Amino acid sequence: MEEKINKNSRKNQIENQILVIFGSNGDLAKRKLLPAIFQLYLDNLLPENFAVIGAGSLEKTVEVNRTDVGDSLLEFSKGGAAANPEKLASFLEHIYYQKVHNQTEEDFAELKKYIDKLSVDLDLQQNIIYYFSIPPFLYDVVAAHMVKYGLNTEETGWKRIIVEKPFGYSYDTAVELDQKLRNGFHEDQIYRIDHYLGKETVQNIMVTRFSNGFFEPIWNRKYIDRVEITAAEKIGVENRGGYYDTSGAMRDMIQNHLLQVLAVVAMEPPAIFDSESIRNESVKVLQALRPIKPTEVAANVVRGQYIETMVDDVIQKGYRQEKDVKPNSKTETFVAMRIFVDNWRWGEVPFFIRTGKQLPEHVTEVVIHLKPAPHQLFKQRCVAQSTNMIILRISPDAGVAVDFGMKIPGAGYKVQNVNMAFHYSDLAENKISEAYERLLLDCMIGDSTLYARADAVKYSWKFVDPILQAWKNNSDVPLYFYEGNTWGPKEANALFGNKELKWRPPFKKFKTE
Ligand code: BG6
Repeated sequence: MEEKINKNSRKNQIENQILVIFGSNGDLAKRKLLPAIFQLYLDNLLPENFAVIGAGSLEKTVEVNRTDVGDSLLEFSKGGAAANPEKLASFLEHIYYQKVHNQTEEDFAELKKYIDKLSVDLDLQQNIIYYFSIPPFLYDVVAAHMVKYGLNTEETGWKRIIVEKPFGYSYDTAVELDQKLRNGFHEDQIYRIDHYLGKETVQNIMVTRFSNGFFEPIWNRKYIDRVEITAAEKIGVENRGGYYDTSGAMRDMIQNHLLQVLAVVAMEPPAIFDSESIRNESVKVLQALRPIKPTEVAANVVRGQYIETMVDDVIQKGYRQEKDVKPNSKTETFVAMRIFVDNWRWGEVPFFIRTGKQLPEHVTEVVIHLKPAPHQLFKQRCVAQSTNMIILRISPDAGVAVDFGMKIPGAGYKVQNVNMAFHYSDLAENKISEAYERLLLDCMIGDSTLYARADAVKYSWKFVDPILQAWKNNSDVPLYFYEGNTWGPKEANALFGNKELKWRPPFKKFKTE
């Protein structure tokens, strides 16, 4: 019921509008954006009057594009399109197309004419979101072309741009890109998307922390021993070798997604729950990250690359054998690191974060390890570890669990760790929304809370830049090779600096099968 009230109240806030997707024939548009928009349509969350304009480099008619979009929705909308053929047909009537080659300036003049005509024909005000679903080197090119033909002016309605990651390639390039975008757009028109912030369960970290009295007193250096954040993927780089080989796990996952998750785990409670206050607090965390000097990189950061491996009698390609990857590439497909947040709450509490491809599971979770009780009365009788953990499972099987010791029934005082797990899906009336659905809807409303602000992007580049430099310039910083279907190089365990500690395997209890 609450879910329904919530959704209806969102619908009322959404003005009639147009969404232009640059790169509409690309993978992201097909797999994520169009299915997300269609799902919003199925959920009755889109405004009464709206149009989606595909802006791609292929020459095709509106009708052909509608067929293409229909086909990709049948393939990628997780059954939504196949189960709702009438809805699919009515949705497709809102889809339009204009050929735009991003490097051809005049195509933007044509796009402007097309939007002007369409908005008259459909009686639509020119409130427009432009989604940059294009390669990053084109962001500033497209923005400049838009400015040249007045596609950014707000006299006829608001204009917003959504920019995908990576936002820049380093600190300097991120600053430069920001300046270029600011030639035509204000900060409040620029939405830097980080889909991890759109995940329900990342937002739930804030609710878990700030709406429960019992987490607040222990969420600090006095009670927390260390924090582990893992984002593991089973797949390799698949058909994205060209992009990935210029990026690597540090730029692809850590600079954006994992540092943002760390910021949500570590931030102070905002004074009020609005976009600027929340983002101010998360930026302060990124500002407080202890810099890792080039000479400290080898001791604090472990990088790895997957090699050819036989898994279940099938050969899994090594990274260097992937399509569009250089045969001697040193690009990392795994990173594990130890990070400190130098502020009063976290002084000297290590945050261990890791991410990698071709690992045994697709799982993202945060584990808060609490310090042991001050006096361990039952230490000799514990069956396993005697510390407590709070596990925030982001995906899959989202949930929260606490892990603590209990007496094993019977004589004596044998203690075993048990846990209480809460499955997030138990709380949802319907399925949990995909990150892109939530984020697109937020942009339509003009809520930028879950989008990265320019200063956050810059601080996280400032933190990772020296590490990337050290990897590039010092051939003595090792690149470890690991077999597929393993948890990465074993050297990652050395980051704990204590032989008894190692990376925790993901929490099993969330598995529902
Ligand atoms: C993307 C990265 O941003 O996130 C991909 O570019 C990665 O390489 C993906 O696979 C992981 O997202 P998720 O939501 O599956 O954890």
